[in-house]
Amino acid sequence: MKITVVGAGAVGATVADNIARKELCQELVLLDIKEGFAEGKAMDMMQTAAILGFDTKITGSTNDYAKTAGSEVVVITSGIPRKPGMTREELIGTNASIVKGVTENILKHSPNAIIVVISNPMDTMTYLALKSSGLPKNRIIGMGGILDSSRFKFYLSSALNCSPADLQANVIGGHGDTTMIPLTRLATYQGAPVSQFLDAASLNKVAADTMVGGATLTKLIGTSAWYAPGASGCALVESIVRDEKKVFTCCVSLEGEYGQKDICLGVPVVIGKNGWESIIDYKLNAEEQEAFNKSAEAVRSMNSVLSTLTL
Ligand code: LAC
Repeated sequence: MKITVVGAGAVGATVADNIARKELCQELVLLDIKEGFAEGKAMDMMQTAAILGFDTKITGSTNDYAKTAGSEVVVITSGIPRKPGMTREELIGTNASIVKGVTENILKHSPNAIIVVISNPMDTMTYLALKSSGLPKNRIIGMGGILDSSRFKFYLSSALNCSPADLQANVIGGHGDTTMIPLTRLATYQGAPVSQFLDAASLNKVAADTMVGGATLTKLIGTSAWYAPGASGCALVESIVRDEKKVFTCCVSLEGEYGQKDICLGVPVVIGKNGWESIIDYKLNAEEQEAFNKSAEAVRSMNSVLSTLTL
């Protein structure tokens, strides 16, 4: 098994670090455009192998895609991260051409790869990767919902004073501060609805905190987060390579599911060796469906910017 992570910045390096620690593959290639950067990060990680006891071989590459040849899974994290006060959407001008170029280069050497997109604005970058590559829809997966759902569980667990692992809670819709939808109605604590334990005001606060979870961190750190995005990206890769069939909210191409088509948006999907394998229907109520439609509208208007860019 060979996996490539494109972009050796904080998110890419953390995805790679998590993958190596879990020994999800024999060969892991980290690629970056900055001279020597991926090689240096790969070397640093390899120097933890003796301590952590993993056998994954990590190598770095400065923009040489030949080294990524034959990868079964490729994670794209390339592009600029947001700075305090910026939305993910403001990154489109810079990141669209980067993501398109990376996707083309990857497929030249790994035509059968499953592609995981993390670069922002993620929903639009996933749509771009799908449209520009012409790959079967199941092989393009945008990573945002796992991360947002994990943040949702973090805020819920703080309010409930419980273990985040005892919660089932999902965020669907777009991966944007105003487009994501924390599904409080369906969130449970060991099978019991969380509304049994938290009043409406507390639940609304949890949802609001979740939606700006990434922005809050960006303000504190001065750049975008990486530990939770890195762990989320790795969880997705793990379910693919181990064919776990785990259900995660991922950004995938919709063809009528959840009332939407010609868009990539976050819905719960089964993740296995074929990429995303099926969509779970949560049977949204009218209010949730309206929020989902609104989210789709916002993402669709961001997607329409792509046609105004020279890519
Ligand atoms: C975040 C970025 C990775 O939400 O989109 O932290």
